[in-house]
Amino acid sequence: MNEIAEPAVVAAIVLAAGEGTRMKSATPKVLHEICGRSMLGHVIAALRAANPEQLVVVTGQGRDQVEDHLKRLEPEAVAVFQPSQDGTGHAVRLALQALDAAAAAAGQPLIEGTILVAPGDTPLLSAESLRTLAAHRAKTKVAAVVLTATVPNPTGYGRIVRNRFGNLARIVEHADANENERTITEVNSSVYAFDAAKLRHALSQLTPHNAQSEEYLPDVVRILAKAGDPVGTVVIDDWREIAGVNDRVQLAQARAHLRDRLVTDFMRDGVTVIDPATTWIDVDVVLEPDAVVLPNTMLLGRTTIASGARVGPNCSLLDTVVEAGAVVRDATCEGASIGPSATVGPYTYLRPGTRLLRGAKAGGFVEMKNAVVGEDSKVPHLSYVGDATIGERSNIGAATIFANYDGEEKHATVVGDDVRIGSDTMLVAPVTVGDGAYTAAGSVIVDDVPPGALAVGRGRQRNVEGWVEKKRPGSASARSAARSVTPATASGADLSVGSPTHDNGSSDESQGDDS
Ligand code: UD1
Ligand code: CA
Repeated sequence: MNEIAEPAVVAAIVLAAGEGTRMKSATPKVLHEICGRSMLGHVIAALRAANPEQLVVVTGQGRDQVEDHLKRLEPEAVAVFQPSQDGTGHAVRLALQALDAAAAAAGQPLIEGTILVAPGDTPLLSAESLRTLAAHRAKTKVAAVVLTATVPNPTGYGRIVRNRFGNLARIVEHADANENERTITEVNSSVYAFDAAKLRHALSQLTPHNAQSEEYLPDVVRILAKAGDPVGTVVIDDWREIAGVNDRVQLAQARAHLRDRLVTDFMRDGVTVIDPATTWIDVDVVLEPDAVVLPNTMLLGRTTIASGARVGPNCSLLDTVVEAGAVVRDATCEGASIGPSATVGPYTYLRPGTRLLRGAKAGGFVEMKNAVVGEDSKVPHLSYVGDATIGERSNIGAATIFANYDGEEKHATVVGDDVRIGSDTMLVAPVTVGDGAYTAAGSVIVDDVPPGALAVGRGRQRNVEGWVEKKRPGSASARSAARSVTPATASGADLSVGSPTHDNGSSDESQGDDS
């Protein structure tokens, strides 16, 4: 009782040999990126949803770059080289010949079943549309199904010409169309599902007798229809899905549209996005419900933001993990991991290998690289932390530098639990500061500090009394000094100026005391 199942999609062919002249770029058109993925990558991702047994990409201009990219993207895919761009029909014929040759070499018959074709420059094509197209071809068994849409401005597209019964008769290219045909707004997307055998036969009949002297793939439709083979269409509602990208203006439009799609989906899934227009999210980013994204923020690569975390404003996060309840603002983070309830920013740069554990802080004007900051430890101001491990509940005073580089090699610093590093400490790696130890503000630490010790590594202060009066007589400083010193000394009032204190508690008396 079962029907003989239609063979699944035997192959998907992506056309990517064209030059993309209007991009005016050294990079082949299909390698330009939209939301963290090349245009070619987007088309392949959509095609993958239809589960093709084989994937072929036709390359030509910029062949080496496209093939290198393809190897990384989809190692299983086969690249077929089209030496001169003689048209989309010619490109598909080469691809099909390569598939047939591979089958023959493996002792198999010519391939049969559904073949999908898509251009490499329609990055917004959805997986759903491709699945619908393949399913329609499987159900109706027609020789060809063309994906079409009605567009506001059909200039440049091939027009869908229907017969008096409303059935697809042929496709006429813009350059070949007459005035009447140019008024048609239903256009060819350049995405098709074909029966392999019918396609093979029709391709052999293509000629380049047209305005562009190319073998047009759309002519296959006319050839099939004329021979009495039924052809059909799948019309999609959202014309932007099939919008081809031919220059950088269209590239930006496609990117903005995909951004809108991604941000809208996240908002529907419970993410708060304060300003969708200034929020850029790559396709592989994960945002959990109740994450909050503030304006002017780019979430790139494989970044993930957990529930309750707040990111932005003004953040750029690449391959960064932000855990629940963390707050990140005005920061650039790459390959960093920001633990639960940790805080970052403003004006903070976290480089690869930075790990802030629960409740840790990387504050204003702090840079970190390859550093683990333990639970509830804080690096609040103006510091560089590189190649370091910091324990729990430790505080790193303002302007501390982990000097990890001796000019040739990088070295590690270890700071224990409950440590208080005084402001402006220079930790010269390799060095270890034991649990509960302190360093005096302004110290250069070159030797390990035992647990519980205070390390002082700086010159003793010397005051040369009356120096200004002697060396700068009559100056503004001398006048101020004269006014200040005399009455104070006379009255015995305490006018001494303490060292500025910081809210991190790093410059309290004990750390300043070197006696
Ligand atoms: C093509 C269609 C047109 C359709 C439009 C949709 C043809 C003749 N026309 O026009 O009906 O409305 O797409 O966007 O097919 N390519 C090759 N080898 C070639 C020529 C092209 O691989 O010899 C590739 C290009 O790299 C591109 C795709 O095929 O990815 C389409 O070619 P393009 O020149 O952009 O065709 P359009 O003029 O846009
Ligand atoms: Ca195009």
